[in-house]
Amino acid sequence: MESILKSLYLSDLTLLELAGAMRREMDRGLAAKTNEGAEMRMLPTYVTGTPDGTEDGEFLAFDLGGTNFRILLVKLVAGEHKNITMNSQIYHISQEIMTGTGAQLFDHLVECLWDFLSEREITSQLLPIGFTFSFPSNHLGIDKNILLCWTKGYTASGMVGEDIGKLLNEAIDRKSKIRPLNFDLKIMAIMNDTVGTVVSCGYDDNDTCMGMIVGTGTNMAYMEKQENIELLEKKTPASEMCINAEWGAFGDKSESLKAIRTEYDIYIDENSPNKGQYIFDKMISGMYMGELLRLIIVKLISNGEIFEEIAPDSKIFSPGLSAAFVSHIVNFNNDNDQIRQCVARFGLIASDEDCNKLVQLCEAISKRAAYLCAAGVVTVAQKIAENRGPDAKMTIGVDGSVYRKHPTFAKLLHSKVRDLGGDLNVTFHETTDGSGRGAALVAAVECRLQNIRTKVPNQTEE
Ligand code: GLC
Repeated sequence: MESILKSLYLSDLTLLELAGAMRREMDRGLAAKTNEGAEMRMLPTYVTGTPDGTEDGEFLAFDLGGTNFRILLVKLVAGEHKNITMNSQIYHISQEIMTGTGAQLFDHLVECLWDFLSEREITSQLLPIGFTFSFPSNHLGIDKNILLCWTKGYTASGMVGEDIGKLLNEAIDRKSKIRPLNFDLKIMAIMNDTVGTVVSCGYDDNDTCMGMIVGTGTNMAYMEKQENIELLEKKTPASEMCINAEWGAFGDKSESLKAIRTEYDIYIDENSPNKGQYIFDKMISGMYMGELLRLIIVKLISNGEIFEEIAPDSKIFSPGLSAAFVSHIVNFNNDNDQIRQCVARFGLIASDEDCNKLVQLCEAISKRAAYLCAAGVVTVAQKIAENRGPDAKMTIGVDGSVYRKHPTFAKLLHSKVRDLGGDLNVTFHETTDGSGRGAALVAAVECRLQNIRTKVPNQTEE
């Protein structure tokens, strides 16, 4: 038990070393020559600005990035009383669809879309779509992006290397032939959830320059000077562009995380569909947190150090613990009756000492995840401070179930950013629904820009 807790502990010195390595990988990712081998992917997104309050009209937002697909109808009202209203529906993505073929996945998304639209009376001539697609993809334009690899348990075949917008349009065309709609759907923008978070938070706070997700997966996007983005072939007139760092891939190609990975982290990676990839993600995010705890519990059981009483059909010996379980245990610290109820569902009978050990383990796992994120936040904030000046005010929009629902994660993260970041002027802003609101806002900004050039019917003229 003691050696496990020790292996999960990260000192400030270790975290600062990690931050240094992350910074090197950020620079390598931004440089054209080294980008391919870099662990921070630093993907240009073609999102160059945040909304200016003149966004108006009705938009559809799609959000795919975990076990659910969400569709939102977002109404933006411009001007002094600017406001956003949303009407949304969640559709489940089964394990079968996640791991089937790409065509099955996209036909399912379009099926959900038709269900959503048929339940609502929508009058727009043109319904612009903002699509939050939260997987690593390489943008060739704001509405054109190529899937680089799957993460978070998805393996749908035939999609890596393909243009996501094109696949969605093809699936919409297939469906329209069977059941036509009386208005046009147009994909205006595709983006990562972190990018949607920057934009959504930017709508409320002008100092927003970072967007972080800690949920099923973890990642960061931030505003970078275009002159520093060597990879970008065609620069736009704006001075900055949002970069999707894909920090989950940190640790993939070098030894950066080797010294702090535990045998449990290695086991999780080796038994995942994307083995050897997204090592940082697997040490932090909600998708793996419960499994990490479970593996440690199983080890302690085999050592005779925890849970002497185990039901013969106990579920602890196969995957099934969630990040929510870790959150509950941290939350029930000192309430052993509640903890006993939680573990009973897995066929475990807990003594007071077991409860105490469980709390210590959950706290250590949570703290490690929060501290690793803190090292990342400080690295990115330092880079922005170099670009914008040391006194720059930096707001970071944050979303994701771990950040929002875990009882201590946010506090641990904030205080470690203060410890490691010295004078950096960073403010955290919890941004619920970056993926929905953000997607609609990016689509709206894009409509505004394209109205000038291509005369897409103006959503404001009703
Ligand atoms: C994974 C994805 C990344 C996404 C993050 C949060 O790390 O690769 O694109 O932003 O999860 O959803």
